[in-house]
Amino acid sequence: MRNTAIILAGGKGERAGFAVPKQFAELAGRTVIERTVDAFERHPMITGIVIVTIADCMDRMQTIVERNTWHKFAGLCSGGFTRFASANAGLMLCPAAEGNVLIHDGARPLVGQEVISRVITALEGSEAVITAVPSTDSLVMTDGGSVESYLDRSKVWRVQTPQGFRTSLLRSAYLEALRHSYFDATDDAMLIRRYFPDRHIAVVEGSESNIKLTYPGDMKRMEQILATQKQ
Ligand code: CTP
Ligand code: MG
Repeated sequence: MRNTAIILAGGKGERAGFAVPKQFAELAGRTVIERTVDAFERHPMITGIVIVTIADCMDRMQTIVERNTWHKFAGLCSGGFTRFASANAGLMLCPAAEGNVLIHDGARPLVGQEVISRVITALEGSEAVITAVPSTDSLVMTDGGSVESYLDRSKVWRVQTPQGFRTSLLRSAYLEALRHSYFDATDDAMLIRRYFPDRHIAVVEGSESNIKLTYPGDMKRMEQILATQKQ
C-alpha cells in the first residue's frame, strides 16, 4: 500500500512573527521544514513525500529540496490562502491509484517515528485516522469571561497531525467541500466528519513533543525537547 505524506508549509507564520516564514526558520541548525521532511523520509512505510509551500517561496523551497537527498520526494507545489487550499493543492499531486495519504503540518518538525507508525497501522482497519493527546488541564466551556460548564477531560482530546486517510475518501471530502464552498476546516478529518458522518475516524495517540511551532516561544521549547532527545 502506498503511503504518501503531504507536508503543508504554505502558511505565512504570522503569529510566530520571525523574519522568515516559520517553516524556513532554523531549529538547532536545520530548517524546520527540513526536519519535518526528514521524519517522513526516514520512516520505512512512507513511500512518497509531497511538499506544499507559499507561492512567493517556491524558489527557496526548491533550493532546499535540491540540497537534500530525499529519495521519497515526489513533488512540490504552491499552496493557497487557506490551509484547505494548500492541502487541496497537495492532494492533486498524490498518486491517483488506491493508497493512503498522511497530511502533516510542516510546522511540526518533532513528529516521532512511532506516531507515524501508529497512523499507518490504524489505516489498515480504518479509512481515516487522527492523532490526538489527552488534556492534563481541566477543560471548561466559556464565553470568554465566565464559565458555562466543565467538560469531561477524559473525553476531550487535542488534535494534532499527522492525520491519515484512504486517498479516495479524502479526495471525495475535498470535492464536497469545494462544492459547498466550505474552506474553513482547520484539519482534514473535520471534512470527513462533515460530509461522511457515518465513516469511522480512528484516534491514535500523538505526542506531547509533537508541538506545532505557532508562537515565538515555541522555538525555545522545541530546542529543549531536541536537546533532551539527544541525551
Ligand atoms: N498552512 C498552509 N497553507 C496555508 C495556511 C497554513 O500550508 N494557507 C500550513 C502551515 O504552513 C502550517 C500548518 O498549515 O504548517 C498549520 O498552520 P498554522 O500553524 O496556522 O501556520 P501559519 O498559517 O503559517 O501560521 P499563522 O496562522 O500564524 O500565520
Ligand atoms: Mg494559520
